[in-house]
Formats: sequence, structure tokens, C-alpha cells
Amino acid sequence: MSDVRSEILLRCISCGREFPADSIIYFCGDCGNLLDVVGDIGRLNPIELKNLWASRKFTMWRYRELIPVEREPITLHEGGTPLYRAEKAARWADVKNLYVKFEGGNPTGSFKDRGMSVAITKSLELGRETVICASTGNTSSSMAAYAAAAGVKAIVLVPRGRVAAGKLFQTMLHGAETYTVDEGFDTALQTVLSSSRESGIYILNSVNPWRIEGQKTLAYEVWEVLGDGEYVVSVPVGNCGNISAIWKGFKELEMVGLARTHPRLVGVQAEGASPFVDMVRRGDERLIPVESPRTIASAIRIGKPVNWLKALRAIRESEGLVEKVSDEMILEAQRLLASGEGIGVEPASAASLAGVKKLREQGLLDRSETVVCVATGHALKDPNPDLVPNKPRESSYLARR
Ligand SMILES: Cc1ncc(COP(=O)(O)O)c(C=O)c1O
Ligand SMILES: [Zn+2]
Repeated sequence: MSDVRSEILLRCISCGREFPADSIIYFCGDCGNLLDVVGDIGRLNPIELKNLWASRKFTMWRYRELIPVEREPITLHEGGTPLYRAEKAARWADVKNLYVKFEGGNPTGSFKDRGMSVAITKSLELGRETVICASTGNTSSSMAAYAAAAGVKAIVLVPRGRVAAGKLFQTMLHGAETYTVDEGFDTALQTVLSSSRESGIYILNSVNPWRIEGQKTLAYEVWEVLGDGEYVVSVPVGNCGNISAIWKGFKELEMVGLARTHPRLVGVQAEGASPFVDMVRRGDERLIPVESPRTIASAIRIGKPVNWLKALRAIRESEGLVEKVSDEMILEAQRLLASGEGIGVEPASAASLAGVKKLREQGLLDRSETVVCVATGHALKDPNPDLVPNKPRESSYLARR
């Protein structure tokens, strides 16, 4: 079957200006907005596609007709993550059916691997030998691993002292050249953007539209199990890239003719880092950055999300919802998933479940809903024994039980 690679373009999400797919750019030269990868996917045959996908192994590359890279991909077998039915979590959040899409099942333990597999493959196609990113920890872990697999050099900028232990360890273990900044993620990203303007080093943050091409495959996987029925997909939001990617995936299923409807998306931020949720609630299109974002969920401690316009469209077009949750609720959701369901996620990932519970409490979501909570990263990423009430005891206590 043919695919869409030959007519791929980059298109500005605001003014529509188009650029060749091999341009090394992240923003429109005219209006400064972000770019989308577009191709003529409407002419693919949906029945052939469905059969072809079903015949392949369950990794994200089973959808390769919709992943526009030319060369053999750099892959560590990302995607194909479990979708767990979670009945205790459903009762806790007070919804009829609840599933957890466990992205901790990816090779480096987060959803970033989907995007990195594509973006590193693209780096090789474009002849880039060094890649760079700013990170709260998961992007850098993933980029470092895929750069190692591809044999390219990785440079990473992280906020000093504010990256979870597991993530910093992974980043260094996989061999990335790592630098720290005194401020938070937003400053690290600005530094990456300006330094790359001079050096030309290829940026693999989610401003890179090829990252989105990998991350959108989560939507295909959910659709393959749940079909195109009515459901809600809840996503933790930081830099707004993943929710934009997931929405692109669901839209493409409709464009190809595989799905007739799409789910509604729910974007969840932490209370101390909620510029996107606040903007959606105000109803305007002006993101007011949070200067010092605060939350225990370090992966979503982001005050100035670059992908906010893409994410705003995802919420509006899907008729979705937004919510912000306290750190207490995030930790409660994390414990519930771990001790009630056996699903170990990092704090940021538990925000998706906490957000669903809060929307229910406020009557903004119906009890009859089927909900998919995207659990973006593994519990081992961010171990914090102080936050777990269940402490180890001396073995002498065992005899007295
Ligand atoms: C575990 C986890 N969850 C959620 C997010 C937020 O994703 P995005 O920044 O694409 O909104 C991140 C981003 O770093 C993350 O690492
Ligand atoms: Zn433009």
C-alpha cells in the first residue's frame, strides 16, 4: 500500500504558510507560530490500513503509513503500551468505566519515547549529528537513549536540583552531555531556542513537529481497542505537546475514514502551574505565563507552555474540558493507582485521574462516561519514599503481628 511520505509538508498552524518537509525550522518565518506536519492522508484505503496494522507487532511502528519518515526508523520498540481496565480507580473518580493507558511501559518509561523515535529518525534523515533539548527530565531521558541508539550526540539543559532522581540518572547513564540552569524549565527552553539559532543544533523539544508525529500514535492504539465510540481521554498537561499530539492522532483517524467520531479530550494541570487551564476558562487566546510554577509533579512544572495554541484547538475542537488539581489530590490518585490497581505512575501522570475525579465532583462530567486516563510516566522515575505512608518496619515486628 502507498503511504503519504511523498507529499509531506510543514504548515504554519496560524497563517497556513507551507514549508518543505526537510526544512530545519520550528516556527513560521512569517508569523512566528508553530508548525504541523501535514500530508494527503485522505486517499489512504481505511480497510487495507486496518488489516495491515492488525497483522503487525504491537509497537507504534505498526502505524507506519501515518508516520512520515523515509528511512528505517530508530526504534527501541516504543508504543504498544497496555490499556488497563481500572475498576477501583473508576469507583474513586465516580465514573462508570475507567481505563489507564500506561505510558510507563515505554522503553525509557514515558510517552516521550514515541516522539523521540520519530524525531531521532528525522535527525538522521536531515543529516544532524547533534541534538539538544530542555527538559523536566523525561524528554532528556528519552532523547539520551534514542541518541545513543542512533549514534548521535545529545546535549541536555535541565533545571538545577529540580529534576527527579530517576530521570537525571537515565539522562546521564545514556550519555547525554548535561547542563543545568538556575531557573526552571521555561528558561531552559528559551536558552535552547536561542543557542540553537546560532549553532544550528537540532532541537528535539515538542516545538519540533516530528515529535508530535510519534506521540499521536497513542490515539491510534486507544482507538484500536475502544473503537470510535463516545469516551473521554484525560491527559496531564505541561508544555501542551502531548495533548496536541493525541488530538492530531484522533483527527487523522477521522480523515482517513477509520473513525466516525472522536473522543473528548480533558487537559489537566497542577494548581500551581495552570496557565493553560486558566486561559481556557477565561475563554480568551492569551496565555498569561506563571512566573514561578509550583507543584510536586515536576514533569508538569511549566509556566509558559509553547504548544498552547495547538492544545487550545484540541480542547475546543473535541468539545473537551480542562481542570486543575492540588498536589494532595495528585498524590492521592498516585497512591490509589499503585496500591489499588498495581499501576505505578509518577506524580504528573496521576494528574489525569485526579482531574477526572474533580470534574465529577463539580458535576462537569457525567457519571455514565467511559474515561481513558493517560498515565504518562513510570513510578520509578520519581521515587519519593517520604510521601508514601507505608513505611518499612524492623523485622522484629513481624513476629508480633
Ligand atoms: C510524565 C509527564 N507527564 C506529562 C507531561 C506533559 O506533557 P506536555 O509537556 O507534552 O504537555 C510530561 C512532560 O514532560 C511528562 O514528563
Ligand atoms: Zn505563519
